[in-house]
Amino acid sequence: MIKKAVFPVGGLGTRFLPATKAIPKEMLPVVDRPLIQYAVDEAYAAGIRQMIFITGRHKRAIGDHYDAAFELEYELERGSKKELLDLVHAIKPDDMDCVFIRQARPLGLGHAVLCSESVVGNEPFAVLLADDLMVGPAGGPSVLQQMVRAYEQNPGTVLAVQDVPREDTRRYGVVDVHGVNDTMAEVFGMVEKPVPAVAPSTLAVAGRYILSPSVFETIRRQDRGAGGEIQLTDGIAALIGTEKVYAYRYEGKRYDCGNKAGFLEATIDLALADPSLRNVVLAHIQNIAANTPPAGH
Ligand code: G1P
Repeated sequence: MIKKAVFPVGGLGTRFLPATKAIPKEMLPVVDRPLIQYAVDEAYAAGIRQMIFITGRHKRAIGDHYDAAFELEYELERGSKKELLDLVHAIKPDDMDCVFIRQARPLGLGHAVLCSESVVGNEPFAVLLADDLMVGPAGGPSVLQQMVRAYEQNPGTVLAVQDVPREDTRRYGVVDVHGVNDTMAEVFGMVEKPVPAVAPSTLAVAGRYILSPSVFETIRRQDRGAGGEIQLTDGIAALIGTEKVYAYRYEGKRYDCGNKAGFLEATIDLALADPSLRNVVLAHIQNIAANTPPAGH
C-alpha cells in the first residue's frame, strides 16, 4: 500500500517567464485547475492521503492553495454558492494531509526527493512531477493508479515509461530493459539525459515513480550527475542489482507542461474534454483551420 506522495515543486520555472516571475509554475492553470492540482488529485485517486511538497522560495501560493481560505469560503457560503464552495473544498478533502518542506538550495531532483526522507520514513512512496500532466484512458484508472496496481503485483521500484523519438532521449531519464514491449519489464540500467547515440533504449521515464525508501541512501552516497545536479535517476540506478526496479508502460497520455507547446496541447485537449467548453472550442479551432493557410504559404 502506497500512502505518501512527494511533489518536488522547488523549480524556478524559467521557461514560463515572465508568467512565473511572481507565481510558481505549478500554479499555472490548465483550463481551470493549477498544474499541481492535477498531480495531487491523481495521487489522491490512487489512494494516497499524505501529500509532501518540496518547495522553495516564492512557492507560497501552493501552500495557500492547500489551506483553508476563510474569507472566500465565508462569502460563498453567505451567497449560497454551494457548487463553488464544493469546488473549493474538493481541493483538499478532509482526509488529505499536506506537509511542506523547504528545499533551501535547488541542487536537483534527487536532492529534492532526499528532503522528504524524515517525513516518508522507511516505506515505499510515490513521486509525481507536476510538470508532467498525465491523463489516464477515458473512464479508466489514472496513471499512478495503474502503477500502484503494478506495484502490488511486483513490489519494488516502479517507473512510468513511454517510448520517445530517439532524438529526444537527451530530455529524459532512459532505461535499459529486456522486453521493451512488455507492460512491465525489469530495468537493468538507467541513465539521465543521454545523447541519442548512447541511449540504452528509447524508453523514457515520465514524471511518475513508486520508489523504495532505499533510494534515500543511494542518493545520499552519490556524486552530482548530469547538469551538475543530484539526480534522482542516479539514485534509482544505484538500486539495480540489490533491489528490483521495473519500467511500467502506462496507458494514457502525458503532456509535458514544462514547455509551452505541451502546455498548450494540454489546455486544448482538456478544454475539448470539458462538456461545457467543447463546442465553443471546437468551433473556434475549425474556424481557424478553415481560414488559416498552412505555414509557408
Ligand atoms: C526529470 C527527470 C527525468 C525524467 C523527466 C520526466 O527531468 O530527471 O529523468 O525523464 O523529469 O519529465 P526534468 O524534466 O526535470 O529535466
